Amino acid sequence: MRIRCWISAGLVLLWCSAAAAQAPATAAERGRYLADAGNCFSCHTRTGGKPYAGGVPFETPFGTLYSTNITPERETGIGAWRVEDLRRALHEGIRADGARLFPAFPYPSYTKITDADIEDLYAFLRTIAPVKSAAPANGWMFSQRWALRVWNALSFEPGRFVANPKQSAQWNRGAYLVEGLGHCGACHTPRDRFMAEIADRAHQGGEMTERLANGKTLRWSAVNLTAASNGLAAWSVDDLTLYLHKGVSRRAGTFGPMNEVIVNSLMKLDAADVRAMAVYLKSLPARGEYAGEPIAPAVVSAGAELYEEHCEECHGESGRGGMFGGPPLAGSAIVQADDPASLLNAILHGPQIPKQVSFGQWETMQAYGEALSDAQIAAVANYVRGSWKNRARAISPEEVARQR
Ligand code: HEC
Ligand code: HEC
Ligand code: HEC
Repeated sequence: MRIRCWISAGLVLLWCSAAAAQAPATAAERGRYLADAGNCFSCHTRTGGKPYAGGVPFETPFGTLYSTNITPERETGIGAWRVEDLRRALHEGIRADGARLFPAFPYPSYTKITDADIEDLYAFLRTIAPVKSAAPANGWMFSQRWALRVWNALSFEPGRFVANPKQSAQWNRGAYLVEGLGHCGACHTPRDRFMAEIADRAHQGGEMTERLANGKTLRWSAVNLTAASNGLAAWSVDDLTLYLHKGVSRRAGTFGPMNEVIVNSLMKLDAADVRAMAVYLKSLPARGEYAGEPIAPAVVSAGAELYEEHCEECHGESGRGGMFGGPPLAGSAIVQADDPASLLNAILHGPQIPKQVSFGQWETMQAYGEALSDAQIAAVANYVRGSWKNRARAISPEEVARQR
């Protein structure tokens, strides 16, 4: 048994985790761990539905696409699939019947998974309780699977993970998990107009749409994960490890789409694997820095009073947050993101925190959507985007209105 502890300064937190020294014994147990690392559960389990029975709606520019049943049921699930069929689906995005799969299923990342790991994933998927349940029918666009032949030819490059011999074993493990199973780039890498991840802008910040329980949709921006100052420059490897593994560090707490990534996936991994991911991410060179003009001083100061009245108590006069308040907004990637969707969601709708995560002494932030007008929210957002060395473009009340 190995015991590891971290102390996060600035926020009274002490985490210890005991990790079993041996790797899980059977192929199915190893496969369960890999399925957690790949977060198959989140995308293949409806709210209140049976595990892995599919039917989760995904919003795309072409309409709604539903995830499929991956339990070992023979008619509606993948009970008739051989390990080779699963390998082809994960590595090439091709179904057992030869039809192509839409890249909302992140096979552009899963193509990096090793063959041995796919065999273990297969062994695990065979142990899930079979469920008879067909996904709802997809819209017309999604019956046009032939079109994916063109998309695949232009925008998808199958290929296994290749270790970098110049880097440590820890770095390579982290790279394998981040680029492969972890599919962080599926949300954090910007996409071109064909919805393909833009390789040379990897991890510089992307966007996504969430379908809410009430049927409405909400747009989010996934932050720049490189060492840029509007990315993770201010984060240490410890900060990032704690945030990913426990949902909170002195830099930030989880909310929004990261809730599922953290609760259903990263929290279940060994501390050493999560640290390896943080080590790899922290090695990404700064890219996607904000290159525009700073926000005009008059625009920044127009939001000062609102900040003082509504935010300062927790985020501090200097934007550095506090042990009994909340995280720092100075240096925050959420605050400085070019696409302010996540910043505005935090202010308008308040951060929703999963019950599995404890923020220690921090106070709960409320939603300001009712209390403040679009103009006021734009003003306070421009104040935090333009203060304390933060740099970003100014945003307008219209952008706030669109985000409500
Ligand atoms: C980001 C969401 C997402 C994640 C994560 C995800 N899937 Fe999927 N998966 C989908 C969607 C959506 C489809 C349906 C694609 C389509 O119909 O073209 C799908 C389809 C599949 C299929 C094809 C099944 C069939 O009958 O056509 C398999 C197999 C599969 N996923 C396995 C997995 C495994 C194993 C994991 C974890 C390693 C996983 N998926 C993680 C979204 C996801
Ligand atoms: C389903 C899409 C999605 C996936 C997959 C995803 N992220 Fe995120 N991530 C987001 C969004 C959206 C935000 C901004 C809002 C939020 O924090 O949820 C974000 C925020 C973050 C933040 C900044 C949090 C803060 O408050 O400053 C970090 C760090 C991060 N993600 C790391 C990762 C890593 C590492 C992975 C892969 C293991 C990953 N993300 C996978 C969507 C995603
Ligand atoms: C009562 C304390 C409190 C007040 C008041 C408050 N916040 Fe927060 N805020 C928090 C806490 C705690 C979090 C962490 C929540 C989470 O990550 O789930 C947070 C998170 C945030 C984040 C996400 C930061 C990041 O990098 O992840 C932003 C942006 C933010 N607050 C802006 C504001 C603004 C703007 C105001 C005023 C309109 C405000 N907050 C008022 C406590 C507060």
